[in-house]
Amino acid sequence: MNTAGYDSPGYERLQSQVIPGYGSLARLAVALLAVSPAARAPGAAVLVAGCGTGAELVEAVAQRPDWQLTAIDPSDEMLEESRQRLADQAGIDWRQTTAEALVDQPGIAGRFAGALSVLVLQSLPDDGSKLAFLSALARSLQPGAQLVLVDLMQTSLPSLEGQLEQAWAGFQRASGLDPLPAARHQGLHPVGLARLTSLVNAAGFGDPARVFQALGFEGFLLQRRA
Ligand SMILES: C[S@@+](CC[C@H](N)C(=O)[O-])C[C@H]1O[C@@H](n2cnc3c(N)ncnc32)[C@H](O)[C@@H]1O
Repeated sequence: MNTAGYDSPGYERLQSQVIPGYGSLARLAVALLAVSPAARAPGAAVLVAGCGTGAELVEAVAQRPDWQLTAIDPSDEMLEESRQRLADQAGIDWRQTTAEALVDQPGIAGRFAGALSVLVLQSLPDDGSKLAFLSALARSLQPGAQLVLVDLMQTSLPSLEGQLEQAWAGFQRASGLDPLPAARHQGLHPVGLARLTSLVNAAGFGDPARVFQALGFEGFLLQRRA
């Protein structure tokens, strides 16, 4: 996904022109996690993995000001943009790191009552990198805690693939953009539902429950096995 221009209004405007429903993703993801079995508790510790320019953090602070948030991103430009945007929110634990490196830091394994990963897994190749990311998130969570995962997926109906790609290009054109090339040409690595299920099961989660979808962008609830 194009991450050119890290100022949050510019970045998020572009994301809204490319990703159907982007304007609601963070709000929906936080609303789902806020009523999850563990993160519904007051003062729950919540991890925002791949916080980018801070869309999920803005929503988390608005909906659940009681949450103890840890925000991570390996990109110092993204993390800095996010940090400036949420400058008046004392108490966020900012870390420039990946989920895979975070989990080995002291006090992280089993710490979180919930986690959000929005549009991160899609950029990792399925060569062990996706499994390492998901396994790190599972290890960071308390048993029974949930992850809200939003990602670009391969369609489960190959006969519709061409139509969905054309519709995605049409969506971008109608949003005033020259359409980006198909996902496979953008360095993205979407997987299908069967592969996602096998990855999340191997990582320590139960089966993914789809909670929303717009074209190829799908949202899932994953529960760490007890
Ligand atoms: C497409 S952006 C999405 C940002 C934000 N979640 C949003 O929806 O606007 C993906 C972000 O994930 C970060 N990222 C990539 N690999 C990561 C990893 N292994 N662990 C945590 N974050 C990662 C990138 O640096 C980037 O900021």
